[in-house]
Amino acid sequence: MKIVTAVAPVNIAVIKYWGKRDETLILPINDSISCTLATDFMCAKTTIMASPTFTDNKFWLNNEEVDFNNKRLNNCLTEVKKRASPKCADLLNWKIHICSENNFPTAAGLASSAAGYACLVSTLAALYEVEGDISSIARRGSGSACRSIHGGFVWWQKGVQPGGEDSVAVQIAPASHWPEMRMIILVVSDDQKKYSSTSGMKTSVETSELLKYRSEMVVPKRVKEMVEAIKTRNFENFARITMQDSNQFHAVCLDTYPPCFYMNDVSRSVVELVHSYNKYKGATKVAYTCDAGPNVCLYLLEESIDEVVTLINDVFPSSVGPSEYFRGLPVNIK
Ligand code: ADP
Ligand code: DP6
Ligand code: CO
Repeated sequence: MKIVTAVAPVNIAVIKYWGKRDETLILPINDSISCTLATDFMCAKTTIMASPTFTDNKFWLNNEEVDFNNKRLNNCLTEVKKRASPKCADLLNWKIHICSENNFPTAAGLASSAAGYACLVSTLAALYEVEGDISSIARRGSGSACRSIHGGFVWWQKGVQPGGEDSVAVQIAPASHWPEMRMIILVVSDDQKKYSSTSGMKTSVETSELLKYRSEMVVPKRVKEMVEAIKTRNFENFARITMQDSNQFHAVCLDTYPPCFYMNDVSRSVVELVHSYNKYKGATKVAYTCDAGPNVCLYLLEESIDEVVTLINDVFPSSVGPSEYFRGLPVNIK
């Protein structure tokens, strides 16, 4: 019998991935960039046990047994097994039991698929003693998962090869490169989203002309600017591009037919608050970004944390106390 456990945190994109050019291989239509959170908050934890006595493969997600017969899970398993160490030859024939838990809401637009599949693939890779980069395997579980394989500032390069060999995540810089960088995750709702990222982006690719323009004309130059902003620790540019990219992603969602509404009135009021705050400060001190849900992530530097947390608690008084619907959590990125 062999047991391994791994932990993987979520990542929050500052240049969004939205749209696939290959649904099975999970190859994106544009590059994306994100920051991976520290492992002490918002992560998935997965334990896998392999035993010659098990008769079936089994999978529990958040303490509920789910069907093992899941394409993405099996694609990841097949790819990891192909790269197993020769030392694990016996193990390859044993059945496995997977147990995974997220310490934050699942499927609520808080990147559970990113932490979840990064964690699953890291645990499988430890089980079968796989060496080398595993981001292209994690990508087969959920696109955004390839970025959670690395810490700090991460760039998922879309790649050009039809088999996706070069569609991998690379680290732009470790978190220690910009130690003042912080994120505040504002949980507006922990309900499951109405339309999954997978189906939403598929409809966008099929119907949105704006998405075609975005992926071909906007993202390539934005990625260059963002890499430069990260390398030179230019927060003004980092923040502006982050907000512009979030806004364009949600514009694409609106341009999708039928449209996907992910942000709500609370998300929009945070956006307005951030712009008012930046205007009042006379400089871009905070950036917002929203994924496929109403929750808002703020990027800011350590120096602004106290004032911004106080502001959020003043404007959204329900963000403190037990019956909150809006929680502000200052977190360090990894
Ligand atoms: P999110 O915004 O949370 O990423 P998605 O719709 O992209 O939502 O993905 C949610 C799906 O990701 C879940 O229904 C489940 O299939 C998968 N997932 C989430 N957490 C895990 C995990 N810990 N292990 C394996 N798969 C997971
Ligand atoms: C809005 O990675 O969840 O969070 O590849 O179909 O599993 P699949 O989608 P997923 O999409 C994430 C979309 C996003 C933007 C981002 O994280 O880059
Ligand atoms: Co997801």
